[in-house]
Amino acid sequence: MQQPDFGVDGKRVLVTGASRGIGQSIAETFAAAGADVAICSRSMDRIGPVADEINDADGGRAVAVECDVRDRDDVERFFERAADELGGLDVVINNAGGEFVANFEDISENGWDSVTDLNLGGTYRCCHVAGKYLRNGEHEGVIINMASVNGQHAAPGESHYGAAKAGIIRLTETLATEWSNDGVRVNCIAPGLIQTPGVAQTLGIDESDMPPREQTHRRIGYPEEIADLAVFLASPAASFVDGETYTAKGVPRPGNSMSNDLGLDR
Ligand SMILES: NC(=O)c1ccc[n+]([C@@H]2O[C@H](COP(=O)([O-])OP(=O)(O)OC[C@H]3O[C@@H](n4cnc5c(N)ncnc54)[C@H](OP(=O)(O)O)[C@@H]3O)[C@@H](O)[C@H]2O)c1
Repeated sequence: MQQPDFGVDGKRVLVTGASRGIGQSIAETFAAAGADVAICSRSMDRIGPVADEINDADGGRAVAVECDVRDRDDVERFFERAADELGGLDVVINNAGGEFVANFEDISENGWDSVTDLNLGGTYRCCHVAGKYLRNGEHEGVIINMASVNGQHAAPGESHYGAAKAGIIRLTETLATEWSNDGVRVNCIAPGLIQTPGVAQTLGIDESDMPPREQTHRRIGYPEEIADLAVFLASPAASFVDGETYTAKGVPRPGNSMSNDLGLDR
């Protein structure tokens, strides 16, 4: 009988925005499963230690590169270095993103541009460059883009972020159709509220002040729960999954009344 193949051992994986939060967990999880990873953030001081930790552990190795996904030249350099060091690329995970919460009438041109350029522009740029490395390769190529439930459902204060994440979902679907004959699968993950430094920062609270996850109406997720989903989507087990958005947000639980939306309404 055929065994399921969730293996990513030996895959060459690029992850953007991996100095903390979901991206760090994705990098660590892939490396623990035997993949080699190329990881970036805007600061070598922040991304270097993550690579050191991965390289000190059992599993695949890590290469850290300073790269701002808002800068095309940076992105080109990051991919080139990653492919050189890892001997090619199989999987690209466009995770870097962020936001601030504000009512639409308070979002300036600059605020709108910065959120859409980081989230949607960064994903566009990285997919564009990824195509050069993944299309018509020796092995199947995989792209995983990080959207959000805010790209699927409207929420107050999230017009810029929601628009950018909705754009990522449609970009993913379109790219999947365009590159399906080129041996590249393109999928999206849409997380609900995940406990990360980025969320705490957005809310202006300390991470330790997040409400107890087991008491909230909809449980707050762990970064590892998104990383595991990314491993599945990159694995041969997901070979027929293409152009999809996978939501990971738990369910509302009866008896727990404490809101988990913390003003983010996810
Ligand atoms: N946490 C959630 O509840 C949640 C829910 C839905 C979707 N998401 C999405 O999941 C992704 C990760 O979220 P997170 O909560 O883990 O965020 P986070 O804790 O703020 O981490 C963001 C990561 O991205 C990097 N980054 C930020 N701007 C960058 C840029 N311009 N170029 C390169 N790297 C950059 C940061 O590193 P440096 O600061 O060192 O550059 C950091 O490593 C984002 O796309 C976010 O929108 C998160």
